[in-house]
Amino acid sequence: MAFRIADTQAFISSMTFEEKASLLSGKDFWYTKAIPRLGIESWMMTDGPHGMRKQATSAEKVGLLESVPATCFPTGAGLASTWNPELIGEMGRAMGVEARSEGVRVLLGPAVNIKRSPLCGRNFEYLSEDPFLAGEIAKAHIRGIQSVGVGTSIKHFAVNNQEKFRMAVDAIVDERTLREIYLPAFERAITDAKPWTVMCAYNKVNGTYCSENGKLLTEILRDEWGYEGVLVTDWTACDDRVEGLLAGQDLEMPGNGGINDRAVVEAVKAGRISEADVDRAVGRLLALHERVMAMDDQPRIAFDHASHHELARRVAGESAILLKNARKTLPLSPHKKIALIGAFAERPRYQGSGSSHIQPTKISTLLDALKAQYPDLTYARGYRLETGEVDEALQAEAVRAAREADVAIVCAGLTDIYESEGFDRVHLKLPVSHDALIEAVAAARPETVVVLSNGAPVEMPWISKVPAVLEAYLGGQAGGLAVADILTGKTNPSGKLAESFPLRLEDTPCFLNFPGSRERVEYREGVFVGYRHYDSVKEAVLFPFGHGLSYATFEYADLIVAGSLDDSGSVTASVTVTNVSHIAGKETVQFYVSPKSNEVPRPEQELKGFAKVSLDPGESTRVSVTLDSRGFSWYDADHASWRISPGAYEIRASASSRDVRLIAEIQTRGTPLPRRAWSRTDTVSDILRYSEFKNVASEVLTFIRGKFAGSAEPGTAEDLMNEAMFLEMPLRALGQFGGPEGDALLARILATLNA
Ligand code: BGC
Repeated sequence: MAFRIADTQAFISSMTFEEKASLLSGKDFWYTKAIPRLGIESWMMTDGPHGMRKQATSAEKVGLLESVPATCFPTGAGLASTWNPELIGEMGRAMGVEARSEGVRVLLGPAVNIKRSPLCGRNFEYLSEDPFLAGEIAKAHIRGIQSVGVGTSIKHFAVNNQEKFRMAVDAIVDERTLREIYLPAFERAITDAKPWTVMCAYNKVNGTYCSENGKLLTEILRDEWGYEGVLVTDWTACDDRVEGLLAGQDLEMPGNGGINDRAVVEAVKAGRISEADVDRAVGRLLALHERVMAMDDQPRIAFDHASHHELARRVAGESAILLKNARKTLPLSPHKKIALIGAFAERPRYQGSGSSHIQPTKISTLLDALKAQYPDLTYARGYRLETGEVDEALQAEAVRAAREADVAIVCAGLTDIYESEGFDRVHLKLPVSHDALIEAVAAARPETVVVLSNGAPVEMPWISKVPAVLEAYLGGQAGGLAVADILTGKTNPSGKLAESFPLRLEDTPCFLNFPGSRERVEYREGVFVGYRHYDSVKEAVLFPFGHGLSYATFEYADLIVAGSLDDSGSVTASVTVTNVSHIAGKETVQFYVSPKSNEVPRPEQELKGFAKVSLDPGESTRVSVTLDSRGFSWYDADHASWRISPGAYEIRASASSRDVRLIAEIQTRGTPLPRRAWSRTDTVSDILRYSEFKNVASEVLTFIRGKFAGSAEPGTAEDLMNEAMFLEMPLRALGQFGGPEGDALLARILATLNA
């Protein structure tokens, strides 16, 4: 029954202290506690990011595999590869409808942690290595689910980028990196889409558990981002309940058998916390309670699983990425004889293991989907799913089938034991049997197409030997249909990578600092994550961020950047895209910002806008995005603020991070520098950053040059050394070089600067 509170303060005052404390933790694994006297009912929240995992058995039982059937959509890796927020919104709505039909009031997702290393076991659930893309996809997902009155829980806040020691490890990350890389996806989604709840991560950040990290949970989340919803812990992430409460934690999940409820009561009695600290959390929980119970007033939304299966097929169709298509091997022509190879064709890997594991409503296999169109197709298993070792007989059978066909399609990838929640991968290799099978089949049949099912990048030692590769990720329950649609040309592929595929594990930016030790993992690569690293150091990659082919060809023209960052705080970049081929298709135009000045080390370029468009043959459209000031800023930790350095910026309209089509340049005066106190240890180059003090700087330079006049021939090494020294020496050297006269000048300019 719906629940409404007319006056929250009065309501809280009517509660006993024990009642308040009891609301601060769950009843069991999935339910909140009821207080019948006050009309507060217990309600359910459940996983997860790409479907609803409502446990069918008793809530006390932690069974991952026994849940109510629900549509299993592609996992996060695929969702971000669609670059299609509208479609993800539609999917979110469908997930919300299913949750509502089962009385689930909050779905625990989306999961937006940044893919710092391709090894993270949970990358299949996460969206991207890029915070902008992750934020945009998460926003759409949250809005979709919440549009039907079901809440979300964006997770895992924050800096949870590995599974190794995830419940204990201390992620040591500098402030600038935190702000530029690990927080923005949360920030964007939380401020724009307002998820009803936020789930804190298990790990520590810079010495403090996320669950009791006041800087994250209160200063940033609430004070800076203005978040008013409920902060729920990841399951058992609560360490010290009282510290957590003080830091801004509202709901501890799952239940704690009453231990922590008593700890809270005791802490108030002992004066360690005040009743107001408890009331703050209770107020937020009551507001959430009103929201979730409103579901009971709403009519049931009719849906059928068949239409959601079709939606899952569409999402999977936009998730899959055509990585390579030499000699136009794809799409398959209708009259070819096909050998379909690999056990995944029959027993697909379509989702990952762990808390996100959905009980699907049905599963479409690639074998069935292709057989419907190619009845004389031959199928060979190729490998056993239970082991990574080569099965010679199965492999030989597959090679025979390939030899007798016109085209071989090899389904390969990672089996469950290779990637999962709870542990990280240790290498980027496919099972030995999969690599060997691809090599053997490609040797027998040059027209070999590889279809990959995996949640994160893999090495492809055979890449030069096969003409076509389709990265299907973990495509959800309708993934088989979607892959068949792409192979046969019914769907024109339009997915683009939301992460870089490195050539070797050793190339990854955090290679030497992942996963760290039991105690700590240091984020020494700083902001240089994914393509931010590869592009800055000009490292070759297997496939770059943003890459994905289409059967159509798109041309870009007339990039125009309008407006002024200095006058209005944003610019609009627009470009004309034309489909110059004979088939309809979708293109994602990516806008990267590349700073030309280097006040601090910055990535070569960063994604700051994108737009996906659908174009008929010959059709053109104008695509435009707004690039706001944040798109040009870096986080200045010294002044705790976002800053735009003055100078030139390139805006690149690109088909991938490495396929830059058009470049425009803008200039900006940059953010005025904050006032500061000047001292004897500042330098002329510090003064030169403040245009209003140009005269002061030149007075100092003239004075010093005068003292050194004639000591060096212009253009010699000595002259260059002097000039560099004049710019960078502490001002106190004025006295040391210039005696009393220099000292007087020093006193005068410090007075001017500090006036
Ligand atoms: C996971 C969360 C999940 C929760 C409930 C935790 O172990 O980290 O993502 O929502 O369990 O299943």
